[in-house]
Amino acid sequence: MFIFKTHTELSAWLLTQKALHKTIGFVPTMGALHSGHIALVLQSRKENDITLVSIFVNPKQFNNPIDFEKYPMTADADIATLQQAGCDAVYMPQVEDIYPPHLPHVNLELGMLNQVLEGPKRPGHFDGVVQVVHRFFSLIHPNKVYLGLKDFQQCKVIQALTQQYFSSIQLVFCPTEREANGLAKSSRNMRLSKEAKHTASAIYHILQTIAAKYKKENLSDVLAASKLFLQTKNITVEYLECANSDTLALTTQWQEPGHNVVLLAGYLENVRLIDNIQF
Ligand code: PAF
Repeated sequence: MFIFKTHTELSAWLLTQKALHKTIGFVPTMGALHSGHIALVLQSRKENDITLVSIFVNPKQFNNPIDFEKYPMTADADIATLQQAGCDAVYMPQVEDIYPPHLPHVNLELGMLNQVLEGPKRPGHFDGVVQVVHRFFSLIHPNKVYLGLKDFQQCKVIQALTQQYFSSIQLVFCPTEREANGLAKSSRNMRLSKEAKHTASAIYHILQTIAAKYKKENLSDVLAASKLFLQTKNITVEYLECANSDTLALTTQWQEPGHNVVLLAGYLENVRLIDNIQF
């Protein structure tokens, strides 16, 4: 497996791969890899000649500096895991390689995508995601990019970026990987105690319960009762909302089948967890 620390080395290698007409699958990550990331790598390996993973903890997308400082860094373990998964190359740049001086700021009008849920709760977050993903796509020009649906809103933001600037890139959204108890796999789970990992299963349980009540009960009542249930589990709900899964417009009315997404953000042991369910 090749390990590139600079975009110059990476670009030289990509040039030879593209000259050989190899298709490139790209998996962007911030490291602290778990089986959710590996599922993306394996999917990419099935569908492309070459799989490239980036590991870069992007400072621009952290609205909370403490969250940035605490973000787990496990570079050696990540490299070993990727090697085992059959990844072809990993790009692990420093901040200066991603954001050289005078790199123009990318403007993307996100509209609704930045006005709901994570948008107002994490000011500047999606702008940071847009900057780093634009830089990756400009350097790599992959054929396909693999993203996890746990970050549903991020998938929509990257879709908007791709539609505007990189129409030849195909995005592949992959289902959320879960622990046996339903907890969505996340690098942040490392910070949860064993007991909290058990308690956190209530999140997916309640999302499934909401989906099971589709059109049988009033949506606002279902959401209100679900928040109360999570409170009893000591999960501090930041938001629990239903949205149209195409536009992400929040709604108090059930949408047509296949166009509902219920999204949650909450805190447990001061760890911020997000999850969602589509139906
Ligand atoms: O989902 C993530 O890990 C990050 O937001 C991403 C897409 C790698 C951009 O930094």
